[in-house]
Amino acid sequence: MTDIPVKELITSAIEARKKAYTPYSHFKVGAAVLTGELRIYTGCNIENAAYSPGICAERNAIYKAVSEGARKLKAIAVVGDKEGDAITQYAFPCGVCRQVMREFCNPDEMMVIVAKSCEEYQTYTLNQLLPESFGPDHLK
Ligand code: THU
Repeated sequence: MTDIPVKELITSAIEARKKAYTPYSHFKVGAAVLTGELRIYTGCNIENAAYSPGICAERNAIYKAVSEGARKLKAIAVVGDKEGDAITQYAFPCGVCRQVMREFCNPDEMMVIVAKSCEEYQTYTLNQLLPESFGPDHLK
């Protein structure tokens, strides 16, 4: 996991967070995902007046990658906090986003980075955040 460009992913997620569309929760999230091809895709959360069509930053980034042909994810960085520049908490991916990650990675290797800054962050494997998970292999 040493080949993961952690700081570049965090910087990309912080940048993506600036584009979040959050007129209802005012909670802004940015995510940056690293693919098997070592490409980075970013996403932000996008809310909707009807509420349920809103999407999380993580899924937005992952679906951008997958829709460009990526099928293997190696890492994802997530930053989130109430609107404003300060990121003073670790925003962990929701359960739905964890399951979406599960579809496109090896859960023992997939690195999930939650960050406040490039200096202050925590790393987990997806397996730590989504143990005993259900995935594509179960359907074979
Ligand atoms: N949100 C994310 O973007 N990612 C998560 O993992 C948790 C929540 C968004 C959804 C909504 O726009 C706002 O944060 C408040 O829940």
